[in-house]
Parts: sequence; C-alpha cells; structure tokens
Amino acid sequence: MPKLVVLVSGGGTNLQAIIDGVNQKVIDAELIAVIADRECFGLERARLAHIPAHLVDRKLYRPELSQKISELIPDDCDLIVLAGFLSILNQQFIQRFEGKIINIHPSLLPKHGGAGMWGLKVHQAAIDAGDTESGCSIHFVSEEVDGGAIIAQAKVAIDVDDTAESLQSKVLAFEHKLLVSVIQRLLTKSV
Ligand code: GRF
Repeated sequence: MPKLVVLVSGGGTNLQAIIDGVNQKVIDAELIAVIADRECFGLERARLAHIPAHLVDRKLYRPELSQKISELIPDDCDLIVLAGFLSILNQQFIQRFEGKIINIHPSLLPKHGGAGMWGLKVHQAAIDAGDTESGCSIHFVSEEVDGGAIIAQAKVAIDVDDTAESLQSKVLAFEHKLLVSVIQRLLTKSV
C-alpha cells in the first residue's frame, strides 16, 4: 500500500477530503502521518481520524523546521502533500523527496502565487486584477515558491459580485475534488 504524508497549517478542509478519500478507498494509500507547523484544526482532524498527528512548532524549531519534519517521514514515503502548509521547506528536504512533494494553491498559477500569497490575499488579488476566472493549481514543489511544474488545474468563474470570501469558498470546493483525483493518479503513476 502506498504511503502518504500530509502537511498542514490551517483548517484542513483539503486534509479532510484526503482522509475521506482514503476511508472511501477512492485513494488507495495509507495516510501514515499528518504534520503541522502550528496548532491548527487540521491537526485536530487527524487526531479525530486516529491518524498519527505531529506538531513541529515553527516558532520552536525555526531554523531546523524542515529537518525536524524530515525526520518524521520514512524513506519509503510515496507522496507528501502540502495542503495549506505555510512554512517554506528547505533545499535538503526538497532534494530528499524530489518529485514526491505536491502543493495545492488557490489560483491559476503562475497568476497570484509566490511568497506571501496565501489565504484571502490570493482571491483578492484575482478580483483586483479584474480576472474573469480563477481556480486552483496542484504542482510539484521546487525551491521556487509556487513555481514547480503544474500537474493539474481547475477553473472557476469569477462573478461580478464575488468577494474574496465567496471566491475562496467556490475555489475550495474544486480544490477538494482535484486534490483527491491527482493524489490517486500520482500514486497509480497515471498522471
Ligand atoms: C487552500 O486554499 C489551499 O489551496 C492553500 O491553503 C488553503 C488551505 O485550506 N494552499 P484548508 O486548510 O485545506 O481548508
């Protein structure tokens, strides 16, 4: 059974979609660990689902955060999913798991990505730019923030009365579906 690790920093709705996907066998994998860089509801979701949940506090471990997280992940881990994970992983971490780390971002990259672009800021940027569509992107993680090869995207229309909040909730619904299907495709090497 392929082994999956999910990294979170926030509410964890994408994590929940993964947990549900594994439980419903839409994803054929074992979710071996959830790791958070701060106390967050995502971690609580893992605990509630009886998945090993680890807190590696970014404030305690600032320079060694990537190393501490790396120590929790076995060599035979097949895929690491950054699902709303806000810390930047270092070069050694990315090289250790080259091609096995994916991130989900709530815009049509390369638009509205990069350091500091997270949460409502991303959706406000799409509205402020006058974009008529937004969406989400799943990409391989490289050393450039939000800059790795794009695996899949889903598009969402931006309506004239959309706010950053309404756009965020529309995009999130697409994120959950896209993330589950991409994880399963990657694990079965059919991407
Ligand atoms: C999502 O919008 C994801 O694209 C971004 O952070 C958000 C996490 O949401 N990277 P959640 O914690 O999965 O609800």
